Amino acid sequence: MDNLKAIILAAGEGTRMKSKMPKVLHQILNKSMVDYVIDEASKCGSEDICVVIGHKADMVREAIGEQKVKFAIQKEQLGTGHAVMQAEDFIDENKDIVILYGDTPLITAETIEKLVAFHREQKNGCTIVSAIVDNPTGYGHIIRNTDGSFKKNVEHKDATDEEKQVKEINTGIYCFDGAKLKSALKKLTNNNAQGEYYLPDTLEIILNDGSSVNAMTTDDVTEFFGVNSRVQLAEATELMKKRINKKLMENGVTIIDPANTYIDADVTIGCDTIVYPGCVIEKNTVIGEDCKIGPNARITNMIIGNGVKFQASTGMDSKVGDRTTVGPYAYIRPNSNIGEDVKVGDFVEIKNSNVGNGTKISHLTYVGDTDCGERINFGCGTVTVNYDGKNKFRTVIEDDVFIGCNANLVAPVTLKKGSYVAAGSTITKDVPEDVLAVARARQQIIEGWTKKK
Ligand code: UD1
Ligand code: CA
Repeated sequence: MDNLKAIILAAGEGTRMKSKMPKVLHQILNKSMVDYVIDEASKCGSEDICVVIGHKADMVREAIGEQKVKFAIQKEQLGTGHAVMQAEDFIDENKDIVILYGDTPLITAETIEKLVAFHREQKNGCTIVSAIVDNPTGYGHIIRNTDGSFKKNVEHKDATDEEKQVKEINTGIYCFDGAKLKSALKKLTNNNAQGEYYLPDTLEIILNDGSSVNAMTTDDVTEFFGVNSRVQLAEATELMKKRINKKLMENGVTIIDPANTYIDADVTIGCDTIVYPGCVIEKNTVIGEDCKIGPNARITNMIIGNGVKFQASTGMDSKVGDRTTVGPYAYIRPNSNIGEDVKVGDFVEIKNSNVGNGTKISHLTYVGDTDCGERINFGCGTVTVNYDGKNKFRTVIEDDVFIGCNANLVAPVTLKKGSYVAAGSTITKDVPEDVLAVARARQQIIEGWTKKK
């Protein structure tokens, strides 16, 4: 949407979180609450976003980063109206300004767009989003004239007994005409029960100045759910999880047990992939089509191809190619690039390594700091010995090498194309092409030994 800017209020401490960390930095599925709000505001095309910070401002600023948004500082938290005043320079008189909260992470771009469209169609000075709730305690109540038109917002603490019964509440999300907001902020006072500058008081001021104010009523209150405590953080996580899983299923992913599947908002999963129960799929993970994931897999920031089976294993910051199978009980550590049709079996750990197509690492093996070619066979219990206590060294294993069981490859070392390593060998020198390397004591037979003993 054109001519739109957003202000996100995030200066409050959030005492009820009982945390060393500012409230808006608490995470839902690995993404901070304020980042959700920023992402939705940018999705609906806000040309500029200003985040008002105050409590532990430096920490919030650093976590959000300077690229995406501008910041305004509210030194003392004197109310939501006061918070917006701190962003005065950001308010453009010819633009619409949407106000959002950093602790209301479930808001969506679609709803913001709906609000702005409604606001523009009605040519309002301000439009708020209201909702009908069973328990209006603590919210601002929307008071209407007998003809149903908007009269004012009254905060619960300032409301009369009669006003306290009004179940239409202010969700706290607004769209303002920039010029009207600017002039109304100048007239705001803190003459109320909390001694705060209330942003919703600007509505009455705008109305009295001759502009129209209206409320867009919604029946879906989940988007306006505000997080004030850890219990509410868990509730918001549950709502977000449901939303993410539903969207994936609508796009063709099978999730066997959505209640027991935790997928982050920025994860992508292809069509006909099946996610079994107990999976945690995190950060910017991309999973292709026709995969079988889990049960009980933890996948963080991975790029996984098509037709991959990833069972009960952990993987992070790495790539897995098409049709490769991983697990059960494998551990893929950062910076690994595993090719196509590879087998990474049980109790295999791979770290900072490249594994070529068609290679089989079937069981009980450590591959660290290694460059593996194609079609290599790792015997059970192979260890790349990459660390001498001080430095790490690389192992190079070329195409079609066959490594017998229980071999140690002491790096730096290279096994050339087509070579074989005998079971139980400890390889400390490079192995040439197409040879068999044996590095172990020869077996002796001592006749009659048992009886003599
Ligand atoms: C506010 C509204 C109320 C509405 C409710 C919806 C006011 C006065 N009341 O009440 O009508 O029903 O939201 O949730 O606006 N903040 C600052 N600086 C401040 C004060 C607040 O940045 O000085 C931020 C907070 O960090 C928070 C947001 O503004 O993210 C809302 O503030 P909060 O104190 O929770 O307002 P409510 O009392 O919930
Ligand atoms: Ca609140």
